[in-house]
Amino acid sequence: MIRILAIETSCDETSAAVVQDGRRVLSNTVASQVDFHAKYGGVFPELASRLHVEVIVPIVAGALEQAHLGWTDLDAVAVTRGPGLAGSLVVGVNAAKGIALARHLPLIGVNHLEGHVYAHWLEVEGDGVPQAELIFPLLFLIVSGGHTELIVMRDHGQYELAGQTVDDAAGEAFDKVAKLLGLPYPGGPAIDRLAAEGDPHAVAFGEVKTKGARDFSFSGYKTAVRVHLEATGLAPLARPEDPPPQPMLDLVASFRHAVVRELMRRTRASIADERPRSLVVAGGVAANRLLRAEAQRLADEKGLALSIPPLWCCGDNAAMIALAGLPALLAGENHLDALDPAADLPLGGPEARRTTLRHR
Ligand code: KG4
Ligand code: ZN
Repeated sequence: MIRILAIETSCDETSAAVVQDGRRVLSNTVASQVDFHAKYGGVFPELASRLHVEVIVPIVAGALEQAHLGWTDLDAVAVTRGPGLAGSLVVGVNAAKGIALARHLPLIGVNHLEGHVYAHWLEVEGDGVPQAELIFPLLFLIVSGGHTELIVMRDHGQYELAGQTVDDAAGEAFDKVAKLLGLPYPGGPAIDRLAAEGDPHAVAFGEVKTKGARDFSFSGYKTAVRVHLEATGLAPLARPEDPPPQPMLDLVASFRHAVVRELMRRTRASIADERPRSLVVAGGVAANRLLRAEAQRLADEKGLALSIPPLWCCGDNAAMIALAGLPALLAGENHLDALDPAADLPLGGPEARRTTLRHR
């Protein structure tokens, strides 16, 4: 039995988890900072790192308590090394180093995106979700507040970039449009909820042209929303909790439709090029209900297996970091002496390959 304590502080969630034998989640505590960043309409990096410092100790203690375990029950510590906000990563990395040093435990640095790739594998007692093995070659669509990329994986630990956003990430587009409309922060969940009450064909969003056929672009949609507000005189909400008028519900439904169409169009093109056997969709925006439905439709149409994490682990969490850290631990690695936060850590760099996942 191997029990890993993991810490994740790459953005605005402080999270700690204890995961047993790679997949079994014994605890996963998450403190979200969204209420603190709401007034800025986005994550304020300096504030994010200060808030991580405030809650990191109770969050780690809470993860142990929730798992009914003590320090002596742990076999290793894993932590997000990057990519993410430098000042936020430092807090998690230092906390993890302190624990590893004090308890004489090996420490594993994990690529945050690799955590998202494998999140759908996590098992929670009684959740009844059947877990599928990854089927290679696979196409991975990562959609979050910081990333929108298409990645081809021909095996565990092998990542080839097939397309990426040339401007905003998809989650960022949701958040920025919500800000324009005076909707609550973060914008993704709010827009997703309200879009169900609007007509997705009420406002026409033209298709976006990019140089690379597999590249995404979302900033044009944000401009289109601004132009629509000016042209129609539709005013942003005075308070985020106000009920939006029908024209705003129609606008957000049309916007969500356009973003998901853009994501699926490029994914479809990559499927034609790469001929994968399965599709994995992950990251915070993978919680989007329309995206989940459309990804299922595309996978069914192309005869591909689809993996999307359950809602609880689409967003940032430490359980997925523990899972992604296991292979390096099994390979006998210990990054305690050399681990540094890396804000731009790429998927598929030497570190990612070292943490190659081979569970069976
Ligand atoms: O993966 P994540 O928790 O953090 C990053 O690593 O960025 O993703 C957060 C992003 C935010 O931009 C948020 O608005 C978006 O995911 N998001 C959604 C939904 N839930 C979260 N976007 C669209 N629809 C949702 N249901
Ligand atoms: Zn993330």
